[in-house]
Amino acid sequence: MPSPAGPSPAGPGPAGTGPLSGRNALVTGASRGIGRAIAEAFASAGAQVMISSRKADALRQVADEAAGRGLPGRIIWQAAHPGRPADAQACVAETVRQLGSVDILVSNAATNPYFGDLAGLDTARAEKTFQVNQLGVLTWAQQAWHASMREHGGVIINVASIGGFMVEPMIGFYGPCSSPTSWPPGHPSRSGWPSG
Ligand SMILES: NC(=O)c1ccc[n+]([C@@H]2O[C@H](COP(=O)([O-])OP(=O)(O)OC[C@H]3O[C@@H](n4cnc5c(N)ncnc54)[C@H](OP(=O)(O)O)[C@@H]3O)[C@@H](O)[C@H]2O)c1
Repeated sequence: MPSPAGPSPAGPGPAGTGPLSGRNALVTGASRGIGRAIAEAFASAGAQVMISSRKADALRQVADEAAGRGLPGRIIWQAAHPGRPADAQACVAETVRQLGSVDILVSNAATNPYFGDLAGLDTARAEKTFQVNQLGVLTWAQQAWHASMREHGGVIINVASIGGFMVEPMIGFYGPCSSPTSWPPGHPSRSGWPSG
């Protein structure tokens, strides 16, 4: 079932100003941390931004605070689990419905439910990590591609962990799962991901 969506009131800032004016962005995992900072930076640069995560209350607060600050770009929100394809599809569709396109997709959401050596990693937590950090990134990119970027173009930014490029003790499964720069959207020319 689609998650609730909510617009924030337009802020009193100078709409249409900034280097990202006219661009529409979608940021996953934007209820806090790096994702929230990216969303606010985009809105400060004039972009219209859809933020998503599982938690509607946290998203609403981010959007309301941004509106209160009068950022040039508007922040809207929709609750969506980053590892569930139906949620990704609904959120991308809502972004296109409200903003018109997805010009920038930031796949930022990630989870790390296990800290320890690989010998002790249980299947359930490995599957959760893979579902959110790898399959989730693929799914959101596919949805953005089909709903908007295939026609309008755009940019996909996958927030990654350096653990995908070097051995990091205790996060040996999270690291590679959280570095999707190694697959299609990260390297379209080498992978066959459509680059138009
Ligand atoms: N922080 C670092 O030191 C660091 C270092 C290297 C790479 N990174 C990467 O940077 C990105 C953001 O990191 P961060 O530290 O800012 O992340 P964070 O604050 O821990 O979480 C970011 C988002 O991920 C979502 N999330 C967390 N656990 C989830 C789960 N089990 N299922 C679904 N969604 C979940 C949260 O959404 P909810 O509102 O739904 O909880 C949250 O909005 C990640 O891709 C991470 O791999 C971070």
